[in-house]
Amino acid sequence: MTLCTAELLVCTTCRSAIPANPLADQKQDPRPGAVLAAGLQQAAPDGLRIIPVECLSNCSRGCTIALRKPGAWTYVYGNLTPEAHLPAIIEGAQKYRDAEGGLVPWRERPEHFRKNCIARIPPLEAPNV
Ligand code: FES
Repeated sequence: MTLCTAELLVCTTCRSAIPANPLADQKQDPRPGAVLAAGLQQAAPDGLRIIPVECLSNCSRGCTIALRKPGAWTYVYGNLTPEAHLPAIIEGAQKYRDAEGGLVPWRERPEHFRKNCIARIPPLEAPNV
């Protein structure tokens, strides 16, 4: 089976909205977004390209990612931490990669994705949605 390639954009400048240790993590250096991007680079399955980016304009609800692929809806997710959400991101990204039009049935999405979708954007090719 040929896998469709999807892209996972990861904001490397995000601080965590929910720091693991608020007192020790005030500086958040390295940025949790950069830690998340590095972890995802190592864990990325075939057909999923990790793209580090700076600021997806969801700063107060970081860490932030976006999933996109040609002909599909784009999804932005937030309130992620590198400590807690790496497996959920990989699971959700794989399902997105394999889903027609990027449309993963609601109940099949990881719980964090169901509760922390910041935006969904129609495909560039869609004339009417
Ligand atoms: S710094 Fe990550 S969304 Fe702005």
